[in-house]
This record gives sequence, C-alpha cells and structure tokens, in this order.
Amino acid sequence: MNPKIILVTGGAGYIGSHTCVALAQAGYRPLILDNFSNSKTSVIDRLATLMGDPPLCVEGDIRDAALIKKIFHDYCCESVIHFAGLKAVGESVKQPLQYYDVNVAGSLTLFAVMKDFGIKHLIFSSSAAVYGEEKEPPLHEESLLHPVNPYGRSKLMVEEILEDLYHMDSHSSIVRLRYFNPIGAHPSGLIGETPSGVPNNLMPYITQVAVGIRKKLSIFGNDYPTVDGTAVRDYIHVMDLAEGHVAALQKTERSSGLSTLNLGTGRGSSVLELVEAFEAATGKNIPYEIVARRAGDVAACWADPSAAQKQLGWGATRDLRTMCADSWNWQLRASFII
Ligand code: NAD
Ligand code: UD1
Repeated sequence: MNPKIILVTGGAGYIGSHTCVALAQAGYRPLILDNFSNSKTSVIDRLATLMGDPPLCVEGDIRDAALIKKIFHDYCCESVIHFAGLKAVGESVKQPLQYYDVNVAGSLTLFAVMKDFGIKHLIFSSSAAVYGEEKEPPLHEESLLHPVNPYGRSKLMVEEILEDLYHMDSHSSIVRLRYFNPIGAHPSGLIGETPSGVPNNLMPYITQVAVGIRKKLSIFGNDYPTVDGTAVRDYIHVMDLAEGHVAALQKTERSSGLSTLNLGTGRGSSVLELVEAFEAATGKNIPYEIVARRAGDVAACWADPSAAQKQLGWGATRDLRTMCADSWNWQLRASFII
C-alpha cells in the first residue's frame, strides 16, 4: 500500500522539519509546502538522509490559492498539518499587518481550498501565547484566553475560525495544538532551529554563547516570584512535539471532532535552571548577567498536558538534559551544514 501523503505547510521550518521525520517514521509521506522565508532549502537534502527518501516538496506561499489547488489536484492528500506562519512576537508588534496577512489570511486561503477539495483533517499550530497570565499555573485548555500581542491574537483568530468551520461541517476533524516552549533538535544533529540574526528565544541564545558567537547571556529579571527569581517556562523537546503531531494526526483519522490540546511537559524550569542543566549536559560555561525584565514576559507558565495524554495517548518523554545536549549537538554542526 502506498503511504498516505500529508501536506505539511511550513514543513522546512524548525518544528515542521522534525515532524516530517516523525511522520516518515510512522509510515506517512510528508509533502512540504514552504516559501523558505525562514528556512533553508538545504533542509530538504538533510531530511532525505534522515527519512531514507527525499520528502515531496513544493516551494511557494500559503497565500497562493492557485498553487494549493494544483497541489491537491496533483497529489491525493487527506490531511494537512499547518505550521507555516510568522512567529516573532516583537516583530509582530512592529508589523501587525504582515502577521495578520500571513497567519490569518494565509490560513483562510488554505482552508478555503481544503474545503473545495473536501479535505477534512487538519492539525493547526497554535501557541501558549493565546493564554493570558494565570495567577497559578498550570495552564489548562479552559484557562483565560487573552493574547497580549498581534502574534498571539493571530493564533487565537485562526483557532476561532476553525471553530466556525467545524460547526459548518461536523464531519471534519480538527486539532488545535497549543505549544509551550520547544527546544532541542533531532539527535542526529542534522536538523534544528536556525534563528536569523540575534536570537529572541532563550535556548538559541545560550547555544550561541556556548559556541562563542555571543559573549554572555542577559537574563531578563531575577525578581519574579519564582524558585530563584528568574522566569519559569515549560520547555519541551521538539521531537516530543513532533511525535505529538503524529498522535494528533492519528486521532483525526479515527474520528471527527474539534479538539484543543496543550503540548507541554507539565514541568516548569527557571532560566537559571535551564542554564545549569545546559552546563551540566555539555560541560560548557555560560557567562551571564542579570538585566531588567523583558516587557510582556510573565513570571511563570507551564502546561497541564493531561488532555493530550488522555485524547492522544501522548506524553513528553525527553528530559531537560536531553533537550540541552541535542540543542548543543545541533549548534556545533549547524555552521558547517547550513
Ligand atoms: P519556523 O519559522 O521555523 O517555521 C515556519 C516555516 O513556515 C518556515 O520554514 C517558513 O519559511 C515557512 N513560512 C512562513 N511563511 C510562509 C508562507 N507565507 N508560505 C509558506 N511558508 C511560509 O517556525 P517554527 O518554530 O517551526 O513554528 C511553526 C509553527 O508553530 C508556527 O506557526 C509558529 O507560530 C508555531 N509555534 C511555534 C513555537 C515555537 O516556539 N517555535 C511556539 C508556539 C507556536
Ligand atoms: C516566547 C514568546 C511566545 C512564543 C515562544 C516561542 C514572548 C513574550 N513570548 O516565549 O509567544 O510562543 O517564545 O518559543 O516573546 N530569556 C532571557 N534571556 C534571553 C532570552 C530569554 O532571560 O536572552 C528569558 C525570558 O525572559 C523568558 C525565558 O527566558 O523568561 C524564555 O524566553 P523565550 O525563549 O523567549 O520564550 P517565551 O518568552 O516563553
């Protein structure tokens, strides 16, 4: 039997590329649609090495309806995993129109063509950025929704559009996945996260300090009401996240419905705890200084992942040490292979 083809928008990106590997391992054939605005075309060759076969790949934009029609015309595709989008919170404040155009209008274009072709299975990349600040983590799927920037609002808008689409067609099967803080890389060191410019996120900043690209880490605040005063997040290995998508895909194949699920570990780690875990896992010293809090940061945020465990039979298995070791392994190789 031929493997099922899954359209993976943004499949050349950080989470998408790892998900393609997990899909291939589970017997699916990913078909990547990506405009490479935030990824490198060379990832396709590296994916071919990891998957044993080159992934199907179309270069193009999710806002191009004619191209998406051609893809569904050329390939028999029952399911879509929709990663493509813009994700930098700070940039979204400066360029909200671009964020709503790609993240919201791009999603609408994709969903309209899916409807025309009768494609009813969809997994959507949402974010913990849709939540407001809870006084007491963990965050449950029913926690208050109050995104505080255009990026988070664009994700919530698409979540709401999907709710309307499900009410229009209750035979459809839609899973909205809210990711917490993905870090780490494939253990091979062949794929990983490639931030352009100065990294905004903590782990890529740490690995760039470790490799000597940056002098020291600035820790944004040590006066939060947390275990050591630094902010706490739910870091999750990107391969655990990737496997969560396979489990979500299998759920869409089993039954119709609309689900919203947190993908996190359920454990919070402070900035200092992550730095210490990185130093222990790699033997590298990470010089740091404490600076002022970053505007918009919450003190503590971690997931209640029990709904995903129940509905998908999925749970994160990789620990902080593995996340750090795999991030470092990727950083050491990245400059040679991308
Ligand atoms: P990424 O930037 O590495 O991957 C996104 C991919 O989409 C890139 O390859 C990019 O080239 C592509 N893309 C962007 N605009 C496109 C367009 N108009 N048409 C076609 N392709 C386009 O990001 P990621 O970290 O892999 O995130 C994937 C998804 O998960 C995003 O929707 C993001 O908002 C969401 N998410 C990410 C995180 C995170 O921490 N990485 C957390 C929560 C949610
Ligand atoms: C950020 C986004 C969030 C997005 C997530 C994706 C903001 C406000 N939120 O989350 O919407 O879904 O990335 O991974 O941007 N830190 C430092 N020094 C640094 C970088 C970070 O101390 O150089 C601290 C931050 O203050 C934070 C923690 O490390 O407490 C994690 O930061 P980051 O990796 O940027 O993730 P989030 O802020 O949780």
